[in-house]
Amino acid sequence: SPTIMFYSPLLLFLSCVLCVSADGQHSDIKIAGCSDSYGEEMYGLDGEEKAYADFNKQEMIYPLPPFVDPMTVPGAYEQAVANQQSCQQNLKIVPEALILCLMCLCTVAPSVMIYTRDEVEFGENNTLICHVTGFYPAPVNVSWTKNEQKVTGSSINTPYPNKDGSFRQTSRLDFTPQLGDIYRCAVEHLSLTEPLTKIYDVEVHVLCVGPSVFCGVGLTLGLVGVAAGTFFLVKGNECS
Ligand SMILES: *[C@@H]1O[C@H](CO)[C@@H](O)[C@H](O)[C@H]1NC(C)=O
Ligand SMILES: *[C@@H]1O[C@H](CO)[C@@H](O)[C@H](O)[C@H]1NC(C)=O
Repeated sequence: SPTIMFYSPLLLFLSCVLCVSADGQHSDIKIAGCSDSYGEEMYGLDGEEKAYADFNKQEMIYPLPPFVDPMTVPGAYEQAVANQQSCQQNLKIVPEALILCLMCLCTVAPSVMIYTRDEVEFGENNTLICHVTGFYPAPVNVSWTKNEQKVTGSSINTPYPNKDGSFRQTSRLDFTPQLGDIYRCAVEHLSLTEPLTKIYDVEVHVLCVGPSVFCGVGLTLGLVGVAAGTFFLVKGNECS
């Protein structure tokens, strides 16, 4: 939730957003503000001013040396001018100027692991576990598919905080391993544009008991087979 960080009668801040990463190591600040005689538009990262608008020179200034490779944003100066104009408008409406600074934590993407509760044996009840960790903010949504069909009956615990301020959550799905079944857990989170998925292929886990090298070869040959099958299927469709 937004936190009011400071208050001053001098400036109206149109927006001031301070973003801190979950581990507290990095912070990002963006300020747009004005008074009747002064305007400011500034971007900072980790305590350094990365860019500001110079309204006299009519351009964005990137004060860091060029080898730091400051990110130049096209249209940033035009945006700053537009912000100043609406800030000046607000100054007329708001009787007492104030500074508001929103503090938020940046979103951090989760990492996902999939494994089973017990050693896998065909036909023996077991539980698939989808462990999601390192994300901010909470929560994530986890959904499961079996052979590309949605399955219900999974459970998920409430978000649990990690030491670094991020969260973890675990989803469980009871299943009975059968040859050829492929399970997938899909994780949705604010930081992701599309779900992050992990696959559990029963065959790989039951049959590949030798060194992982053989497992890799077996899996590759299997995939070549699937690709060839798909190719002929497509050809067949084209002829009809
Ligand atoms: C295995 O799971 C199914 C469905 O979840 C259940 O009906 C069955 O009793 C279980 N079998 C054993 C041996 O636990
Ligand atoms: C989780 O699912 C709910 C209900 O479908 C949805 O409103 C919400 O936005 C989802 N959350 C994320 C992080 O995708």
